[in-house]
Amino acid sequence: MAQIGRDVWQAEKILLHGGLVAIPTETVYGLAGNALNIDSITKIFQVKKRPTFDPLIVHTSSIEKAKSLVVDFPPMAQKLAELFWAGALTLLLPKQLIIPDLVTAGLDTVAIRIPNHPITLQLLTRLDFPLAAPSANPFGYISPTKPTHVKQQLGDKIAYILDGGDCKVGIESTIIGFENDQPVIFRLGGISVEKIEQVVGKVKVKSHSTSNPQSPGSLKSHYAPIKPFFINDIKPLLTRYRPHQIGALVFGEYLKEVPSKNQLNLSVAGDFIEATKNLFSMMRQLDQMSVKVIYATLLPEKNLGRAINDRLRRAAAQ
Ligand code: TXA
Ligand code: MG
Repeated sequence: MAQIGRDVWQAEKILLHGGLVAIPTETVYGLAGNALNIDSITKIFQVKKRPTFDPLIVHTSSIEKAKSLVVDFPPMAQKLAELFWAGALTLLLPKQLIIPDLVTAGLDTVAIRIPNHPITLQLLTRLDFPLAAPSANPFGYISPTKPTHVKQQLGDKIAYILDGGDCKVGIESTIIGFENDQPVIFRLGGISVEKIEQVVGKVKVKSHSTSNPQSPGSLKSHYAPIKPFFINDIKPLLTRYRPHQIGALVFGEYLKEVPSKNQLNLSVAGDFIEATKNLFSMMRQLDQMSVKVIYATLLPEKNLGRAINDRLRRAAAQ
């Protein structure tokens, strides 16, 4: 069973030997291995039961190191990196040959980010290789935002979980790629579209689908709890279930239709940052509650509300 601890040296030792360690980041916990070692990468896919057509994000600790992994770092990427790294931003850039094809699922771009967490930055600074790290959850399930989330689901498959406390952002990074030198958002995430647009002007947001060849991992059904998950309209649910059989995830106001003890509020004050931090952990709590189905209200379609709605829609798309 995995040990939860704060020993960076222990984590470093395991990684140097090609093993895997769960690492904290400000967004979600990652399942990390040496990004340049095929055996480590293979283990990541196996432990997560992740299909190999879904590429991984490579984590590093400086812009300089990031540059050594790509063949081009355009001025727009430089600007974004300077402003948002270390932080919840992932850039898609043309990869160097040293990045194994397994990491990028055969694509010629690699996803790179510098995570903003002191203990993981310390680890990355000590290592002379970057870390490939998808979210540390079984494929298709909700991402972990606490060490115990990782232990519950992957504890029997890995040796060590580096404890960095609760994730401060709580949702995965915003992924930005470039098409004809223009930035394009491939995945909504911890840095809002509004914040990105303040820097680079209007950006296109790619809609996710099950057949988006350029972001094969952005499957529509994802981030899902085990229980049936619904959004949009609660009325059809009320014809099929008794109110006490429904668990609800709300934002600001509580629902009249469901007992209050079955409701978790992302943010009573209607604060997007607080809601983002609570999202995945509350989805997990609802999954463990003695209810039959989960209903979630969508947030206003702006700021981090957009990224939260994206995850809620995907959870409901089963
Ligand atoms: O916040 C995060 O990004 C977290 C933490 C651990 O850093 N990581 C994370 O990784 O969310 P993962 O594997 O759960 O999601 C990575 C996503 C996948 O959906 C994949 O499709 C996309 O990144 N991706 C990776 N490389 C890509 C590429 N070259 N082109 C397009 N999409 C890519
Ligand atoms: Mg994931």
